[in-house]
Parts: sequence; structure tokens; C-alpha cells
Amino acid sequence: MKRYDTIDALRAALGRARQTGRTIGLVPTMGFLHAGHLELVRRARADNDVTVVSIFVNPTQFGPSEDFSTYPRDMERDLALLAEAGVDAVFTPAVEAMYPQPLQTTISLKPLGDILIGTVRPGHFSGVATVVAKLFNVAQPTRAYFGEKDFQQLTVIRRMVDDLNFPVEIVGVPTVREEDGLAMSSRNVRLSPDDRKAAQVLSRALSEGAATIAAGEGDAAGVLAAMTARIVAEKGVTLRSLDIVDARDLGTVDRIDRPVVLLVTAEVGPVLLIDQREARPA
Ligand code: PAF
Repeated sequence: MKRYDTIDALRAALGRARQTGRTIGLVPTMGFLHAGHLELVRRARADNDVTVVSIFVNPTQFGPSEDFSTYPRDMERDLALLAEAGVDAVFTPAVEAMYPQPLQTTISLKPLGDILIGTVRPGHFSGVATVVAKLFNVAQPTRAYFGEKDFQQLTVIRRMVDDLNFPVEIVGVPTVREEDGLAMSSRNVRLSPDDRKAAQVLSRALSEGAATIAAGEGDAAGVLAAMTARIVAEKGVTLRSLDIVDARDLGTVDRIDRPVVLLVTAEVGPVLLIDQREARPA
């Protein structure tokens, strides 16, 4: 496994691979890797000749009062995990390498980036879309891999790729969960044992909501009310947003007569957690 810190060095290495007709799978991450990331890597390796993982905690997708400085980091451990997983190249740029000058160009999706989690984290999806566009331009991958847990992020990236004609195939990979159902996240490490237990309510409420829909409940407001009651009853959990939206474009759904996705954002202790579950009407 080779490690690259500069855009030029990564470009040169991947350019050689591309010239010899090899396909490139890119897995963008912010590090502190867990089983969910390793599943993205597994998929990328299965589909492509060369797998490259980027590790970059992107400052522009964090709000001023968010957890950029405390976001968990462990480069040595990440590199060991990726080498063991059979990754070919790791891109680990410093902030100055990705942003050598203040950006005058950014990508924002309206309304897709401003709704749902975008209301809780203003500017977040613009930061994500812009850094992912930069990574696509640097690596020029054949395919790029993103977790379905960040469902709105995946939808934003798919739409950006469509709108701006990036020649890359976006692959969404199902959420990997802990044994108790909690969605894998780098932030889970910051949960105290009590918070960790309380956080289980999120995946449980999502499963119950999806089961109710599969059993024939078609009224989104009714499903949301039952899920809300379940979540707010849990001590230590502050519900920030809960939505049932169209699975294709995240549009509002009143009557559940098509595939939908249930999305939740909640603060558990000091940590903002998100989770998601797709559901189909009976
Ligand atoms: O999902 C993440 O870890 C980040 O949002 C991403 C896609 C690597 C962009 O910084």
C-alpha cells in the first residue's frame, strides 16, 4: 500500500493506472475507520483493479460550533487497517494541500442540501459536495463508494454527479450496524456507556417505523408521531429531526404509497448521530 500526501503525487500514480486501462475505486473517508468503511473498501476492491482511500477530516463541512477539533483521529491505526484490507493507495492530504488558498468556488445544491440535516447543519452539504468534487477531480475514479447511513449525503452526491456530468459511477453501500443495531459511526467512540445504550433507541424506532409501514400504515404523520414518542421518551437523547421522505429525491411524503426513507438526527450526550432506514408500503 502506498501513501500519498500531495495531489500531484496521487494524480501521477493514478494516471499511470488509468493509462494501462485499470479501473479505480475511490472510498472517501474522514478516517477513524470502522467496519462500515471496511465494507466500502471490500466493495471497491471487488469492483475495481485499483482501490484508493482518502483520509481527510474536511474542515469546510463542519459548522463553527461543531466537532471539527474533537473529531476522532488515529492515522496509524487507519493505515494498518487499510493495509490489512488490501488497499492499493491512501491519500492523506493536509488541510493546506486541499485548500492552498481560500475557495472562491463552491458547490451547493438547492434545495437538496438545505433540507433535512441541512437545516440542522447549515452549509454542511456544500462543504461535502465541494470536497467530494475536488476528490473526484484529483483521483478521477471509475467508481466511488459511500455509505447509505448518510442517505442525504449519498443523494446529494448522486445529484451533483448528474447535474455536473462527473464521469464516475456512485455506489451506495448498506449501513453496517453494531450487534445492538446502532449504526457504525466514527463518532460512536465519543458516547459514554449510558449514551451508547440510549442511542439504541434510534435504530429501534426506525425499525418499528419501517415495520409499521410494511404492515400497511400509509399515513406518514401517524408513523412519525409514534416514532417521535418513542425517541423523546429516552433519557439523554435530544431529537433534532425525524422525517419520512421519497427515497429517490428526498421530497416530502404525506401518503406512503412509494418507497420511502426514514431519517433521524439526534444528539446523544455530546454527539450528533444520524441514522436511516428504507421502507416500502405493503
Ligand atoms: O462521509 C464522510 O466521511 C465525509 O462526509 C466525506 C464523504 C468523506 C467527505 O468529507
